[in-house]
Amino acid sequence: MPSWPTWDEAHPSLRLVAEENGAVVGWTALSPYSHRSCYRGVAEESVYVGEAARGRGVGRALLEALVAQADADGYWTLLAGVFPENDASLALHAAVGFRVVGRHVGLGERDGVWRDILWLERRAATA
Ligand SMILES: CC(C)(COP(=O)(O)OP(=O)(O)OC[C@H]1O[C@@H](n2cnc3c(N)ncnc32)[C@H](O)[C@@H]1OP(=O)(O)O)[C@@H](O)C(=O)NCCC(=O)NCCS
Repeated sequence: MPSWPTWDEAHPSLRLVAEENGAVVGWTALSPYSHRSCYRGVAEESVYVGEAARGRGVGRALLEALVAQADADGYWTLLAGVFPENDASLALHAAVGFRVVGRHVGLGERDGVWRDILWLERRAATA
């Protein structure tokens, strides 16, 4: 896990949390795809829901709010990298308008295992 200052710097614009009974149970945020001006409307999205709160619509509520705000803020493309076996994340992203645009083979390594990543995008209606 990154430190708070590192995370904070990497997610300078849109971030949302979901709360239940005053406790944070999930979050979603954007990080810039690139600092080059031509990509100013492109961002990579992350979403996480705590284990105890999963499967109850929290992720969907977070991403629906995020994409609505991203559209309003002028983002034209959101990107997300998802492990192919992450059925919950793939269903969630499809539900809010993401589609799979490609597969990186062996892009990430954890515990000695090289993992494929599906690359997803969501274009704003105005894009
Ligand atoms: C992926 C994650 C954010 C989903 O959050 P969630 O609150 O459990 O999701 P929701 O309850 O809002 O469900 C969203 C959709 O996914 C579907 N879904 C949920 N769990 C599922 C599962 N295990 N398998 C298949 N579909 C699933 C739901 O049916 C729902 O679709 P619908 O709205 O059309 O009915 C959550 O599981 C999580 O944080 N996982 C660990 C971190 C992670 O994988 N982050 C994403 C990295 S790309």
